[in-house]
Amino acid sequence: MTSTDPNVVDFPVRAPGESFPPRVYAAFRATGGLARTHLPSGQPVWLVSRHEDVRAALTDPRISANPANPGFPKVGRTGGVPTQEEIPGWFVGLDPPDHDRFRKALIPEFSVRRIRAWRPTIERTVDECVDELLAKGGSADLVADFALPVPSRIIATILGVPQGDREFFESRTQTLVNLAGSTESQRAEAVRQLLRYLERLIAVKRKWPGDDLIGRILRAGVLSPEEMSGVAMLLLIAGHETTANNLALGVVTLLENPQWIGDDRVVDELVRYHSVADIVAMRTAVEDVEIGGQLIRAGEGVIPLIASANHDAAAFGCPHEFDPGRSARSHVGFGYGVHQCLGQNLVRTEMECVYRALFERVPTLRLTPPVSDLPFKYDGTLFGLHSLPVAW
Ligand code: HEM
Repeated sequence: MTSTDPNVVDFPVRAPGESFPPRVYAAFRATGGLARTHLPSGQPVWLVSRHEDVRAALTDPRISANPANPGFPKVGRTGGVPTQEEIPGWFVGLDPPDHDRFRKALIPEFSVRRIRAWRPTIERTVDECVDELLAKGGSADLVADFALPVPSRIIATILGVPQGDREFFESRTQTLVNLAGSTESQRAEAVRQLLRYLERLIAVKRKWPGDDLIGRILRAGVLSPEEMSGVAMLLLIAGHETTANNLALGVVTLLENPQWIGDDRVVDELVRYHSVADIVAMRTAVEDVEIGGQLIRAGEGVIPLIASANHDAAAFGCPHEFDPGRSARSHVGFGYGVHQCLGQNLVRTEMECVYRALFERVPTLRLTPPVSDLPFKYDGTLFGLHSLPVAW
């Protein structure tokens, strides 16, 4: 598609080698706020770019998160959001009131209090991962050898995956997120194996529920075993590559801004600054709705651009600067509205523990190639790094 209208663009909007967020987002914000693109399938979709409009789109009940709606954007090599028929319990694809039951069951598991109780376990897991990183010798790939294992081990512990199954569990979750090193059919097979595994685990926990997330939710009896395995799968996938990308990009940013190492205020600013989940919040209008003065017709796809909202000068002064001293709390890096990230307290604690352990225990940590040569992910649904060669 070629157009002279600056607000009609090719998809994906990110060009290889370009800085992130794409410069064109600033043009969208300056000229009307909404842009049109066509997905590779030919499907037309609205891109929402301003902070205020992104929040409006994410809270308007006429804009649905249900992938079963005709016109729902199917983006990315992983095929996008599964329907309830495909994976029951994948509640990020449900609208209220169906969504409420899942959210209510899960919120206590990710509350500030519960995550505080997990902190010693998180610190121990991070320490083990630093031990394994150091055992590599003097250099490693910080993505594969550290940033990916950390969140997958932590969520396995929270879910209650037994120690003996951890290796199986971790290897299948790595296949899922390794877009460059696995084929689509390998990833589909990993999903099948993980779902089968979770179904078996849940069958065991129904008989002998432990004091873990799956055990507690099964005991409460609000979700069916099928829904529970979909929920477990969602927690696993939603929190894995997002966290790993954020951890790895954060290391790069902190090495470039060492004056902020040791300050926990970096956490929310890193989530805002990198906005790894730029295009994950996919939606469809189910009624005609006006966003930012633009009429969106029922049945049209909508993608609120999280990175664009987080770099909107109307919401954040000097938005392209990394400044943990600012108040970044109104960022939408974790989404906004009813689907706002369930795992955000967990992520914050993981990031705090990771940066503390990594920079304290590996004070000579440095990047091997210059930042400009790093393999950034321009092609996936999430922004991040394919690998991060480091030495110490
Ligand atoms: C830096 C890491 C993370 C980022 C940037 C992130 C970002 C997001 C965003 C933008 C959404 C909203 C999606 C939408 O509106 O469609 C979301 C939802 C969600 N996230 Fe996260 N996330 C992260 C880590 C995690 C972790 C660690 C977990 C859990 C272990 C998690 C679990 C979820 C779940 C379950 C939802 C769906 C909530 C709902 O529909 O009610 N996320 N996340």
